[in-house]
Amino acid sequence: MLVEKNVPLQPFNTFHIVAKAHALVRVGSEADVRELLADPEWGGTPKFVLGGGSNVVFTGDVKPVVLKVEVKGRRLVEETPRAFIVEAGGGEIWHDFVAWTLAQGYPGLENMALIPGTVGASPVQNVGAYGVELQDRFDSLDAVDLQTGQLFTLNAAQCAFGYRDSVFKHGGTVQSGGHQVLGLKDRALILRVRFALPKAWKPVLGYADIEKKMAEQGCIQPTAQQLFDWVCAIRRAKLPDPAVIGNAGSFFKNPTVTPEQCADIIARDPKVVHYHLADGSVKLAAGWLIDSCGWKGKSVGQAGVYEKQALVLVNRGAGTDGNGATGGEVMTLAKAIQTSVYERFGILLEPEPVVV
Ligand code: EPU
Repeated sequence: MLVEKNVPLQPFNTFHIVAKAHALVRVGSEADVRELLADPEWGGTPKFVLGGGSNVVFTGDVKPVVLKVEVKGRRLVEETPRAFIVEAGGGEIWHDFVAWTLAQGYPGLENMALIPGTVGASPVQNVGAYGVELQDRFDSLDAVDLQTGQLFTLNAAQCAFGYRDSVFKHGGTVQSGGHQVLGLKDRALILRVRFALPKAWKPVLGYADIEKKMAEQGCIQPTAQQLFDWVCAIRRAKLPDPAVIGNAGSFFKNPTVTPEQCADIIARDPKVVHYHLADGSVKLAAGWLIDSCGWKGKSVGQAGVYEKQALVLVNRGAGTDGNGATGGEVMTLAKAIQTSVYERFGILLEPEPVVV
C-alpha cells in the first residue's frame, strides 16, 4: 500500500482550489481499503473519500487520509426481461460511462450526459438533470465499510434517495420509505454501481430546454443519441466547462416551499420561476432567486457568480498557477448570496457541495 504525502488536490477538484492532502491512498479495489484498515499507522485515522471532486469545496489542507477512488471497469452484468443491468466501477468518469452505455445499445442515462464527476459519487448526490435522476435508473451498489472493511450491497430503498440527497450524506439515522436506515456519511466507500436500463426505452421529454430543441429541429420522437447530443449542447451553452473554468455545478439546491410561502414570494415578485410538485409543495428556481438579487457576474476575490447561470459559482483564477479562488472566498461569496436571498425572499438556500 502506498501512502502518498503532501499531495496537491488542485487537479482532483473541479473548482481547481489549491489544497493539499496530508496523506492520500489510491483505492483500486476493496483489498486496498482492507490493507489500509489493517495498517497500524493509518487504520484508525479519520478518512475522507474523494470521487471526481466535482462536489467539494476545500477550505484548507485535508487532515483525514484522502481515499481517492480509482476502481475501474464497466460491463453488462445481466439481462432481465425488462432491463439491461449494467455496472461501472466507482472511479469511472460519469460522462464517459453514459456515452459507453449508449454506444453499447443500452439507453436510459442520456438526460444525465455531461454531469461532472465519477460513477461512485453519483449515488451520493443522487445526481439528476432534464427530468431524470439517478434513482430512476439505479439497481444496486457495492460499498466497503470504512470501519470494518466489510463489503456490502445496497438497493435503492437502502440508499434513501432524495433530491440531491442519500444515506451517504447523513450520520445518525435516515427515513426511507417509512423505515429507519443507518446514515453512512464518512462510513462507506462506493466501489461499484449497477444501473437498470429499461429495454422498453422511451425518451424523457417535457423539460423546457429539451422542448425548445425539439421545436427547433422539428423532431417529436428523438432517439437516445439525439437527446444525449441536445443535453450536451444545452449544458455547454449555459454551464461552464470545469476543464476551462473551475466550478462545482449548481452551488445551491432548488428550495422546496409550501404553497403559502410561494404565494408570499409571488406577492413580492410575480415573475419567480416555480414548479408545482406532485406532493403539493412548490420548487423554486434558486438560480432565478439569486439572479433577481443581482448576483450574476459579481465576485469575492477570485470567486464569482457565473454570468450565464447564477446558480453556478466559478473560480476566476488561472487554475494551475495557484492564483485562483480560495475555498474561503467561495464560502464568503456563498454566504453573501444566502444572506441577500434570505433578506429579499425569506428563503435560506442550502449549498449542494460538501465543504471540507
Ligand atoms: N434562471 C434564471 N437565472 C439564472 C439561472 C436560472 O432566471 O441565473 C431560471 C431559468 O430561466 C429557468 C429556471 O431558473 O427558468 C431553472 O433554471 P435551469 O433550467 O437552468 O435549471 P436549474 O434549476 O438552474 C437544475 C439542476 C441542474 C440541472 C438542471 C437541468 C439543481 C440544483 N440544479 O438547475 O443540475 O442540470 O436543473 O435539469 O437541481 C447540478 O446539480 O450541478 C446541476 C447542474
